[in-house]
Amino acid sequence: MYTTTDTVNRATQAPTKEAFVTIEGVSKVYPTPRGPYTVLKDVNLNINEGEFICVIGHSGCGKSTLLNMVSGFSSPTDGIVKVNGKQITKPGPDRMVVFQNYA
Ligand SMILES: Nc1ncnc2c1ncn2[C@@H]1O[C@H](COP(=O)(O)OP(=O)(O)OP(=O)(O)O)[C@@H](O)[C@H]1O
Ligand SMILES: [Mg+2]
Repeated sequence: MYTTTDTVNRATQAPTKEAFVTIEGVSKVYPTPRGPYTVLKDVNLNINEGEFICVIGHSGCGKSTLLNMVSGFSSPTDGIVKVNGKQITKPGPDRMVVFQNYA
């Protein structure tokens, strides 16, 4: 059985190069007037170039929070998001977003 953190070729079991998008140990905690609010905790995901991914979950589970960290509009509280081996620190022309709401 494989998990999203596997970095082996599923057919050959051989180690592969780093995935195109890597989300490593990512957590996101928002400060709120009622104290810290943990939305994501230790999220790990590898996406290879050309893969088509759907993130599914109930409203408020943190899908947009995760995508905002891949697009670079927001930073993880913990962990690292990398695209093509480069840590994401800000938005860039190599990524695009169709916003959920009028923006
Ligand atoms: N800036 C913020 N400060 C505090 N809480 C926030 C902030 N942004 C989002 N949240 C909260 O984080 C949680 C996750 O929000 P997010 O927008 O990522 O959910 P979602 O999975 O995209 O939901 P939906 O399916 O409704 O789009 C929600 O409870 C939301 O209220
Ligand atoms: Mg959303």
